[in-house]
Amino acid sequence: MRHLQETDYPAIISKLDEWWGGRPMRGLLPRLFFQHFSDTSWVIEDHGEVVGFLIGFLSQVFQDTGYIHFVGVHPLYRANGLGKQLYEQFFKAMRDHGRHIVEAITSPVNRESVAFHTRMGFVVVPGDAIVESIPVHRNYDGCGGDRVIFRKTLVR
Ligand SMILES: CC(C)(COP(=O)(O)OP(=O)(O)OC[C@H]1O[C@@H](n2cnc3c(N)ncnc32)[C@H](O)[C@@H]1OP(=O)(O)O)[C@@H](O)C(=O)NCCC(=O)NCCS
Repeated sequence: MRHLQETDYPAIISKLDEWWGGRPMRGLLPRLFFQHFSDTSWVIEDHGEVVGFLIGFLSQVFQDTGYIHFVGVHPLYRANGLGKQLYEQFFKAMRDHGRHIVEAITSPVNRESVAFHTRMGFVVVPGDAIVESIPVHRNYDGCGGDRVIFRKTLVR
């Protein structure tokens, strides 16, 4: 595992939609994340190829909070603990920065992400509707898209 670098951008962005099962995700991950948040973001490589990545940052407004914007693991490498390793690295970094809350969001259709975050100890923040038994925040994206908000309190 190593820190994300701006030079990782082409390789990761070209795989993004494929790793998300064909969903169009590229627009949500502009290059600026690779430029400005590399010190709180990591990749895992296998034989020189990125097989997992996490992009997160320290909230500027909420001084107790870190935010995970994206996590992805190569489909052939899933269920091997890589996502967990990336999250644990981020949790450690947040503790080192004195942050004890971690937040992330996902789409309610992404059941894998809901299962993963639940397993990683996140709780779902109550929303304004329940969709297929999950609390969601309706129209979170301003274009009709609902989102699930996760929050985890880190044990010091
Ligand atoms: C979500 C994702 C990152 C998980 O990565 P992963 O490397 O397969 O996860 P891990 O193997 O580290 O799993 C960690 C824990 O979560 C659980 N988990 C992971 N995916 C799960 C799933 N689909 N269903 C149920 N549990 C799951 C694992 O069982 C494991 O639990 P354990 O510690 O008790 O063994 C991966 O599936 C992925 O890249 N998905 C597509 C991108 C995406 O949706 N990202 C999240 C939204 S930004």
